[in-house]
Amino acid sequence: MLAIISLASISVLPLVSGHAAFWHPSMWGFNVTQQTFSYDNRPVAPIKNMNFTEWWFHNHLAHPPNPGNIFELPAGQPATAQIACNKGATDFFASSEGGDIRDKNNLDNVCPGATSQEYHTNGLDDLEGCAMAIAYKNDVNQVQPEDFTVFSVNQTCVWTRFTDFQVPARMPPCPEGGCVCAFFWIHSPLSGGEENYMNGFKCNVTGSTSTFPVAQSKLPRRCGADPTNGKMQAAPANCTYGAKTPFYWFNLERNNMFEGTYSPPVYNDIYNFIDGPQDDIFVDSYLSIPDPAPNASMPILADVSSTKNPVPATNNSSSSSTGSGSGSSSALAKTCGSATALQPNSSSGGLGKREVKDVSSGSGSWGGLILRMSKRSRKLDMHKRHRLWHMW
Ligand SMILES: *[C@@H]1O[C@H](CO)[C@@H](O)[C@H](O)[C@H]1NC(C)=O
Ligand SMILES: *[C@@H]1O[C@H](CO)[C@@H](O)[C@H](O)[C@H]1NC(C)=O
Ligand SMILES: *[C@@H]1O[C@H](CO)[C@@H](O)[C@H](O)[C@H]1NC(C)=O
Ligand SMILES: *[C@@H]1O[C@H](CO)[C@@H](O)[C@H](O)[C@H]1NC(C)=O
Ligand SMILES: *[C@@H]1O[C@H](CO)[C@@H](O)[C@H](O)[C@H]1NC(C)=O
Ligand SMILES: *[C@@H]1O[C@H](CO)[C@@H](O)[C@H](O)[C@H]1NC(C)=O
Ligand SMILES: *[C@@H]1O[C@H](CO)[C@@H](O)[C@H](O)[C@H]1NC(C)=O
Ligand SMILES: *[C@@H]1O[C@H](CO)[C@@H](O)[C@H](O)[C@H]1NC(C)=O
Ligand SMILES: *[C@@H]1O[C@H](CO)[C@@H](O)[C@H](O)[C@H]1NC(C)=O
Repeated sequence: MLAIISLASISVLPLVSGHAAFWHPSMWGFNVTQQTFSYDNRPVAPIKNMNFTEWWFHNHLAHPPNPGNIFELPAGQPATAQIACNKGATDFFASSEGGDIRDKNNLDNVCPGATSQEYHTNGLDDLEGCAMAIAYKNDVNQVQPEDFTVFSVNQTCVWTRFTDFQVPARMPPCPEGGCVCAFFWIHSPLSGGEENYMNGFKCNVTGSTSTFPVAQSKLPRRCGADPTNGKMQAAPANCTYGAKTPFYWFNLERNNMFEGTYSPPVYNDIYNFIDGPQDDIFVDSYLSIPDPAPNASMPILADVSSTKNPVPATNNSSSSSTGSGSGSSSALAKTCGSATALQPNSSSGGLGKREVKDVSSGSGSWGGLILRMSKRSRKLDMHKRHRLWHMW
């Protein structure tokens, strides 16, 4: 229906040629237009087959935000992003070359006058998720790809202009001047070619209640069920747990993912990116994280609710699993007395991206559909450690 209504108006809209970007005055490249570079380097332009200078921060480092423009990340609350195929479709239309093109009948429309294929999805069941990552550095020139940690994922992205990213409650404060963040997205292979999306922005964590730092991020691993590619069962012990790096894929330099065209790395359960806040990214989040492998033992979550003082980060699984806590961490050790390493339960049902059928015949609003979908996804409950992988 949306498609039919849209066709009539598609020709009158300026530059609405699809794709999507995060839009906010705190971003690098906020005012970059089709003419700014010798090639189309608008924030919505997809990134692929580029050298590092060309893809890193979308080659927008020379187009910084104005001083004082910062995207706030309220600890424990949602941060609402605006994602659209054109700045004119956001609240920041005033500085858009084509003016206000927001859809008055649906302010959540990502790309007014276009079908969802224009932002690379065939529909709700084809969404692969997008992510926000943070680097605890105040100088963007010091930020390296490995400095980013994904702190929030929205698996039903890109679908609505206003997209909530839940900020983990335990995010520590940023250094003076704030942090550097970026929006990342890799879309479904069914709706367009291999592409990365990256938009960097200045960000700041507000309302921090914890000072435990974010752990050094590690490469995500493709551990979830992936029926499309013939993998019916998830391999939970094969996942990366804790802080994970964003995907850098299909460029000429500094890739960290080497998946093929039909199995793009995606921000959802396939790579253990839980929908919502990534609550386990801190140095004290786990008592142990064994090296992942399909037959490895499972990590042991710490009970962070009882910790007041920093616990030294450890990667020594033998010391943690025997509960060698001392001082401030003894409470942890006690509460995990019965926590023998979890074994992967292959009968618990492989869980890849959400499997939602019949969305077109579903009743209710987009929001309702999204709510239902999210409930299919795994959530991490830091107080129920046996649910590290199992879904509810
Ligand atoms: C990256 O590619 C651009 C465009 O081809 C080229 O001008 C630039 O010199 C390259 N930079 C590096 C560091 O290779
Ligand atoms: C973007 O353009 C608007 C309108 O010209 C201007 O007010 C604003 O300062 C610009 N922002 C940046 C970051 O260049
Ligand atoms: C994803 O964004 C949608 C739209 O803002 C929101 O309804 C949903 O709750 C978000 N999902 C999560 C897990 O935050
Ligand atoms: C970041 O937030 C903290 C806590 O609210 C505040 O003290 C600090 O001034 C903010 N920094 C910037 C650059 O806005
Ligand atoms: C384990 O993860 C690796 C790295 O992502 C992946 O190549 C491999 O297919 C995964 N194996 C299983 C059984 O999940
Ligand atoms: C896991 O599998 C590898 C390769 O098959 C094997 O070498 C290793 O001993 C196994 N480890 C455990 C703990 O079973
Ligand atoms: C983890 O173990 C390796 C090898 O034993 C060591 O080099 C590294 O410093 C350890 N990291 C932490 C955080 O303890
Ligand atoms: C890991 O912890 C155990 C038990 O405390 C200790 O015996 C062992 O030496 C530690 N290994 C490393 C590499 O630190
Ligand atoms: C594995 O999961 C299934 C389904 O949730 C459950 O019925 C079964 O008891 C579990 N088995 C083990 C060993 O945890």
